[in-house]
Amino acid sequence: MPKTILVTGAGRGLGRTLAEQCGARGDAVIAHARSEEALDGVPCERRLIADLERPEAIEDAVAGLGIEHLDALVHNAGIAHIAPVGGQELEWWQRTMAVNVVAVAELTRLLLPALRASGGHVVFVNSGAGLSAGPGWSSYAASKHAVKALADALRGEERAAGVRVTSVYPSHFKTDMQRSVREQFGSDYDLERATSVESIAKAVIDVLNAPSDMVVNELRIEPPNPLPIRPRA
Ligand SMILES: NC(=O)c1ccc[n+]([C@@H]2O[C@H](COP(=O)([O-])OP(=O)(O)OC[C@H]3O[C@@H](n4cnc5c(N)ncnc54)[C@H](OP(=O)(O)O)[C@@H]3O)[C@@H](O)[C@H]2O)c1
Repeated sequence: MPKTILVTGAGRGLGRTLAEQCGARGDAVIAHARSEEALDGVPCERRLIADLERPEAIEDAVAGLGIEHLDALVHNAGIAHIAPVGGQELEWWQRTMAVNVVAVAELTRLLLPALRASGGHVVFVNSGAGLSAGPGWSSYAASKHAVKALADALRGEERAAGVRVTSVYPSHFKTDMQRSVREQFGSDYDLERATSVESIAKAVIDVLNAPSDMVVNELRIEPPNPLPIRPRA
């Protein structure tokens, strides 16, 4: 059954692939990006244009779309800046928490009436860094731990209203972000040992289309033979 699905960060990376796969299935995609141009070629019915570094601006952008029913909200957009705590600048803490946490909470709040109206599903694309934090990961891992908490609270709050909540915890998959993180760590990157975006997108779509008498609350995903992120000797 076709769904109406809002995907954040749909201009590139996992979000774009997810929007493409949903569009190919016949779902009505509401694609989010921070510019119209970023969505060139993305199959979508409507567009939500908002810079998530400015969570205070999301309300007007969402109101302009008049979304009354929403089957799924996929929080995919995210940023990662790698640095030790002693070198992590205030600006990066603020940007990371704005995009990865505050905007996610605000968009969820604004769309909850539409999600409740449809018995909808909220998917948080989290990370292995949302479950444990190693050196260099502080701001990103803190943001993803916060999103885990947001998802866990939401699940309990909205269960009776029929809203499902899933946190997906991928290890690593082939995108600009993974390449950037490897560069920031000075780590080797073997594309053959990372999961493809197509596989992660398929997993998200499977979660959204699980039988109605079950919900996947959490999903952990990693490549079969992952290459650890480790600075070159
Ligand atoms: N790749 C991995 O190995 C990996 C592993 C675990 C978890 N994840 C998570 O998976 C999700 C998708 O990651 P990805 O690898 O696909 O990342 P990506 O290729 O770097 O894409 C990030 C997306 O987020 C959007 N975004 C960033 N800052 C934004 C802002 N201020 N306002 C609006 N949109 C913004 C980007 O839009 P612009 O084009 O405008 O920048 C882009 O569409 C993220 O939540 C990430 O934390 C990734």
